[in-house]
Amino acid sequence: MEPLRTLLFVPGNRLNMIEKARHLPADVLVLDLEDSVPSLEKASARAQVRDSLAGLAPERRGGEKVKQKWRKVFVRINSLASGLAQEDLESVITPGIHGISQPKPSSARDVTEVAAIITRLERERGVAAGHVKLLPWVETAKGLLHAFEIASASPRVVGISFGAEDFTLDTGMMRTEEGSELLYPRTMVVIAAKAADVIAVDTPYNNFRDEAGLINEARLARRLGFEGKFLIHPSQIEPVNCIFCPSPEEVAHARRVVAAFEAAAAQGFASTSLDGKMIDIPIANRARKLLMVADSIARREKGR
Ligand code: COA
Ligand code: MG
Repeated sequence: MEPLRTLLFVPGNRLNMIEKARHLPADVLVLDLEDSVPSLEKASARAQVRDSLAGLAPERRGGEKVKQKWRKVFVRINSLASGLAQEDLESVITPGIHGISQPKPSSARDVTEVAAIITRLERERGVAAGHVKLLPWVETAKGLLHAFEIASASPRVVGISFGAEDFTLDTGMMRTEEGSELLYPRTMVVIAAKAADVIAVDTPYNNFRDEAGLINEARLARRLGFEGKFLIHPSQIEPVNCIFCPSPEEVAHARRVVAAFEAAAAQGFASTSLDGKMIDIPIANRARKLLMVADSIARREKGR
């Protein structure tokens, strides 16, 4: 799976924002039909999102200079419990879409139900089988207890997202700025994602005028093993893209670690030292993993 560092929510009822989003450097645009759209506008937003999809995928922009060839377009549908999910899917499963963000699944069954509807619609609409990916949210107490099953419910699932606002609402936790109450669920989401071999995406940072706060939270998420973060405002894209991309210093250090380890291995040793610190197999493999992420981001950005 390609790195998905920044996933920008765009309310499905705000045509000016959808239009603006076309030119923004987020890895994923997530057109929202759920909580940013009021009940009375659900039907009109659905139609608007459907009509906008074809123009958002960069490869479909005739003639215009394409900036982010890798950019993906997802739609967040309403939950199954709302009774709106089926109609949302009927409307938006078209060749222009890469994935569906599914809110509030309680169990694997909720995910397989959505996956089955997508399978039928792909067939009916001439979309390649398996093209539409799934990014379920873990944002309820039941969802967290079933996070691994949710993450492994279907081959369409490419990641799971932690949703802090609904999670604190559902569990009665107090939501704080420093967020210590979220350490356990965040960590569980990452562990469940890794056990299922998918990525973990962190919750949005709502205080969108506070760049220092955003950077702190995104750094914490990266330290915990998240590979990307949902965003709500264009100003959040650049700092978060930067945090989820290994820095030049990290890349240089990882190269030195791998070189030192390989030199030791060539002499028959499985451990060595660098700058007074021990290096062994997992440390070398962690460095190799970081280099792979850096390389895959650099390669796709060069291919602009
Ligand atoms: N996507 C695309 N464009 C956006 C955007 C978004 N998520 N958020 C803001 N913009 C645009 C604005 O329309 C404005 O465009 P303009 O300069 O052409 O008028 C520009 O970026 C600057 O916006 P700003 O004035 O700073 O903010 P705002 O008051 O217009 O909007 C929010 C603030 C929070 C209402 C808005 O960012 C938003 O709706 N975010 C998404 C919320 C959401 O999806 N929530 C559900 C998930 S939890
Ligand atoms: Mg939510």
